Amino acid sequence: MINPQPPRANSSNDTLAPPRPPIPAPNNFKADDALIMSLLRLPQLVKIHQPNNKIFKENIHIFRQALEIFWTENESVVVRFHRGRMYLNERRLAPDKALQITIAKLGEFFEKLNFYGYRFQRVENLTDDLIIDFIKQVNLSQQQKEPAAYLNSSLEANWATPIIDKDFKIAVVMSDDGSGRFKPLIINAGVRTLAIKAKRSYSRALAVISGLNQKISDGENINISKPRRVVQDMVEGLFQNENLLLSLSTIRDYDDYTCTHCVNVAILSMCLGKRVGFNKLQVMTLGLSALFHDLGKVDVPIDLIRKTSKFTPEEYEVVKKHPLYSVLRILKINSEHTLKSKLLVSPYEHHLGIDLSGYPFADYRTTPLSLSGRIVAITDHYDALTSSRSYRPIPISPEQALDIMLQISGTELDPLLLKVFINMIGIYPVGTLLLLDSNEVGMVSETPSAAEDGRPMCVILDFDESGLKQREVVNLSEKNPKGRFKRNILRCFHPSEFGLNPSDILI
Ligand SMILES: [Fe+2]
Ligand SMILES: [Fe+2]
Repeated sequence: MINPQPPRANSSNDTLAPPRPPIPAPNNFKADDALIMSLLRLPQLVKIHQPNNKIFKENIHIFRQALEIFWTENESVVVRFHRGRMYLNERRLAPDKALQITIAKLGEFFEKLNFYGYRFQRVENLTDDLIIDFIKQVNLSQQQKEPAAYLNSSLEANWATPIIDKDFKIAVVMSDDGSGRFKPLIINAGVRTLAIKAKRSYSRALAVISGLNQKISDGENINISKPRRVVQDMVEGLFQNENLLLSLSTIRDYDDYTCTHCVNVAILSMCLGKRVGFNKLQVMTLGLSALFHDLGKVDVPIDLIRKTSKFTPEEYEVVKKHPLYSVLRILKINSEHTLKSKLLVSPYEHHLGIDLSGYPFADYRTTPLSLSGRIVAITDHYDALTSSRSYRPIPISPEQALDIMLQISGTELDPLLLKVFINMIGIYPVGTLLLLDSNEVGMVSETPSAAEDGRPMCVILDFDESGLKQREVVNLSEKNPKGRFKRNILRCFHPSEFGLNPSDILI
């Protein structure tokens, strides 16, 4: 049993309700028991009580207090039922008799829902509304074919997720309390759940943007709610694990360039926004506007979008209108006016250049480009250059792309932001293939902030007659006893040259 501690003080939260003062837990409060009992009790209570009912409210407070106690020491708490036993994070519960019955019932409940438990990610301000939404959706999921998939797609925010990975392992390791005893340890559960969640957010974002394009083509009105939810999911993912989201931006789907491009530009923009100090709400607004930056391309004849040869001057004039068309499309979205006014800025500005010499024609303008416009200009350039296009089946390598972008730094692209961007994706961006002097091939998985000379971490890839196998992750900053680097980079390749999709390997 962990010792009761006062919950963490809440700080401001941009995407959720206003801050709620922390409620101290009573001294005899048992967080383990409270959490398990709440998970069984709340789905029952929500069926018979209104949200303002006193008993219901008290139980919500107990549930929140239990979570906040766990969150004082952990980023998340994983409640998992496995072979008749309940685990809280890696710790197996040793319950008293009364709690044993509750655990058995909760285990049955999970089995009925065909998942193994929940993961509760720490949020700064967990509101009653979010808890009620979670409990209601848990109840509704019981009537669905795939309760876990339903829960993942229906929850307002992703602080709570069902545990669905079946093949998790429990290892037995030496306890670190010096007692010489062994304890069970759940391997990788949290990370896997995050990766699954991130991949799902990406596919949902793709589906949303292609759905929007279809609706526009059919002359239907579009609503902000779905894109907002999908971007909000990605923002939560970004604030939990930036590298995971950056890896997702390496997804390249040649058949669906327009959609993957919009989602990748949204991801890269959100990552860059976070790097320059945007808060969650600002990152979300930036992500949404980046997602919509090329929405106006639906108004450009498809033959021009797919053209493999150079545009004639007349054709180029038509293509140059797409930022303006994006603005007109955003104005028609069903959403609050204040949000729309923020969303249309970067789509309008993304081809204008910081010297305002680009398009749409703006030599009357004296005000500089907005920060979001400068961010999207950089991420748009980078993703377009590093993607396969109908007129350029082999994409430019990230290294070459950055070289090209450096040549227009100060005229089209903001030099300072470009520096931050290069620093963010690393000299060797995530997904780059490296030929090493150890006769190995590696794929960059991340660049630690303290990396020496920008030397990244990479997954060593092994090929045999059955195809590609992955090996261990190595840090290229590692040195041998003589103080020399163990591995050095000889050459970089674009993964598509070998038909590899980085997201298949890294996530
Ligand atoms: Fe564009
Ligand atoms: Fe674009």
